[in-house]
Amino acid sequence: MPSGEVVLYDERDGIGWITLNRPDKLNALNREVFERLGGALADLEASDSAAVGVLHGAGRAFAAGADIEDYVDISVEHYRAFMDVGRAPTDLIGQLSKPVIAAVQGFALGGGFELVLACDLVVAAENARFGLPEPKLGLVPGGGGTQRLPRLVGRVRANEVLLTGRFLTAQEAHEWGLVNRVVAKEELLTAAGELAAAIVANAPGALSVIKQLTRDGLQRSLPEALTLEQDTTASLITTDDALEGVAAFIEKRPPRFPGRHRISEAG
Ligand code: COA
Repeated sequence: MPSGEVVLYDERDGIGWITLNRPDKLNALNREVFERLGGALADLEASDSAAVGVLHGAGRAFAAGADIEDYVDISVEHYRAFMDVGRAPTDLIGQLSKPVIAAVQGFALGGGFELVLACDLVVAAENARFGLPEPKLGLVPGGGGTQRLPRLVGRVRANEVLLTGRFLTAQEAHEWGLVNRVVAKEELLTAAGELAAAIVANAPGALSVIKQLTRDGLQRSLPEALTLEQDTTASLITTDDALEGVAAFIEKRPPRFPGRHRISEAG
């Protein structure tokens, strides 16, 4: 894909690297970015060589939110349609069978933070800043900020971010459970790659089921979710990956998961 594209997609070592690529606008999210992001996520899902995605931003920011220039004189109808355009790739991150890691440096604001909230894991550079400054513009987050954030950190902490519009530091986001690890800025992509590699080493079918169970289970009562877990995992005991994983343990050798093997051969 030419570097003039607003979203780049590249596969290396079993990882699909997705880059938001409007650095001169701090990767502000417009219709084209959201649509291209959806395309890159679809490429990741369809890939035989990538088992995990890493989403990051080119330049000094992850993404500084929706492109405010597009809001000038916008109608309710067009704004609603734009929210749908943004919602599609944000929801898709959760629907993919493959985990997606957000690698965040600099600003992750508004729709940028909302993309992070939709990801499965988050690695942050020390200079990462997370916020939902919409009320400063007379607006309200419309890409999941008022819904995913309270589910992740609780209503009271979410209200602090939402009502004050203040930015969380990387360390605060880590303490609040929004971020898996904080690293030096220069080490961000290496750290995200290492986290991805630790995931890629496992059986792809198991990864997909774990992702689905942790997301779907949280929408249900605990007894229902436990039944969902048992029903889903029971059927996996005779998959090729499970047969190989168990045999490898008994034979005291590293597993060669058929699903994983296909990915490493293609990658
Ligand atoms: N929409 C459109 N353009 C944006 C943008 C956004 N959300 N965020 C940044 N940009 C643009 C700036 O207009 C500027 O463009 P220019 O060089 O053509 O003037 C460029 O990106 C660099 O941003 P700048 O403001 O000069 O950088 P900064 O380091 O001084 O400030 C921010 C960074 C993130 C604090 C500031 O850009 C900002 O507040 N952005 C808006 C954040 C926001 O409200 N997001 C929610 C939107 S609903």
